[in-house]
Amino acid sequence: MAEQTTVTQITEKIDGTKETERQLAFMEKAAGYVQELSEKLGRKPTCCVVTFGCQMNARDSEKLSGILEKVGYELVENEEADFVIYNTCTVRDNANQRVYGRLGYLNGLKKKNPHMKIALCGCMMQEPSVIEKIRKSYRFVDLIFGTHNIYKFAELLTAMFEADGMIVDIWKDTDQIVEDLPVERKYPFKSGINIMFGCNNFCSYCIVPYVRGRERSRNPKDIIREIEKLSEDGVKEIMLLGQNVNSYGKNLEEPITFAKLLREVEKIDGIERIRFMTSHPKDLSDELIQVMKESKKICRHLHLPLQSGSTEILTKMNRRYTKEQYLALAEKIRREIPDMAITTDIIVGFPGETRADVDETIDVINKVQYDNAFTFIYSKRTGTPAAAMEQVPEEEVKENFARVLETVQQTAKKRAALLQGQTLSALVEDVNDQDPELLTGRLSNNMIVHFKGEKELIGQIVPVYLKECHGFYYLGERV
Ligand code: 5AD
Ligand code: SF4
Repeated sequence: MAEQTTVTQITEKIDGTKETERQLAFMEKAAGYVQELSEKLGRKPTCCVVTFGCQMNARDSEKLSGILEKVGYELVENEEADFVIYNTCTVRDNANQRVYGRLGYLNGLKKKNPHMKIALCGCMMQEPSVIEKIRKSYRFVDLIFGTHNIYKFAELLTAMFEADGMIVDIWKDTDQIVEDLPVERKYPFKSGINIMFGCNNFCSYCIVPYVRGRERSRNPKDIIREIEKLSEDGVKEIMLLGQNVNSYGKNLEEPITFAKLLREVEKIDGIERIRFMTSHPKDLSDELIQVMKESKKICRHLHLPLQSGSTEILTKMNRRYTKEQYLALAEKIRREIPDMAITTDIIVGFPGETRADVDETIDVINKVQYDNAFTFIYSKRTGTPAAAMEQVPEEEVKENFARVLETVQQTAKKRAALLQGQTLSALVEDVNDQDPELLTGRLSNNMIVHFKGEKELIGQIVPVYLKECHGFYYLGERV
């Protein structure tokens, strides 16, 4: 393979509006290359975008897909495509290992199809050790870029077509937000919207602030305009995305609270459901609780990551709340908005965590009665403060993990059973994977209901009778 090329390793200052125009010009150029390829192949070239990780990444993949479609690729789900992009996650090490494993498989495909192109992007690419490893052991990769320069994907695509080796373009950070690039939504009726990027919290276990950079909020006007356009386009449900939405707007020239933004979003005609992700307990204001309570559109689901129920561990995690403060907050929410589902994230096996600490976590789970909880085994991330702390032996972690999981499942089951027999609105999302006679809908509280119906209902919000509760989903009937 020819020499590898590194384009930049810098933080660039650019003008947002001009940048959009620049990128649109690159899209035209890239379209020319895709056209050439199409003539060579005698068909439209195919492209597959594989997403690892969170909703932020899913939204980024929609942006990549928008550009790919615009330059002439046919989007497919199958990795036996002319161009494969992995949008990676690095929050826990198992996500990284999955990427390396699948790269081996892609190499096999590329040997059969030498014209195939492979690109890697996303959080994992922001880690210098990863780039080093790929340069050394995965030289068949054509393009690598990070989280800060995804908006210049069209430019990078053009460079990839022109280059004769690996293109690597990683920026350490950026203060840039480029608006108005094409997006290809996965669902016509619902959409994520970034309201902010990055995180300033530096929880001691978490790599996100290092790979996603400092907190930057989008201008409220841009957000509202984007949602208005989505509404005109038929979108009924939106999810406002940020690592820590409760601190939205603090650093804008004209500061605004997240609660005020929600009030503005609520006014947009056509939008029937509003979700948001993720809330940090330390920043959740009374103003926000009030807005949620009064709202007709904000969904009855709040994701409120606990991480640990032990104040001592929370301090070591740099979470900036105590067990008691978290409990008081959860109680206030349950009191003010009784039908609000509360879900959470929990980490088991953080350095120094004892059985007694885990008992505290279990105590919080029992007191809050979560509707659902994502439970993770602590994963050591190089460069974070917790990586240097003394790690808990694996056996102990496994045992504690099983205890936490069991408690979570019990409370979730109990909470789900409470709604059996009610009739609630569901947004119909899909035909059921296993049974084509059934549709799958999502309730306001984020639970899933399967019920008989015609696929023409997809995208509509319909009342469904929750006939049987099956733990994590319901079987229902349309009324
Ligand atoms: N190990 C395990 N889980 C982690 N999370 C973040 N960093 C780590 C880590 N190093 C979890 C947190 C967070 C969720 C998105 O991922 O619970 O809320
Ligand atoms: Fe990571 Fe904490 Fe920021 Fe969430 S709030 S992204 S856990 S540092």
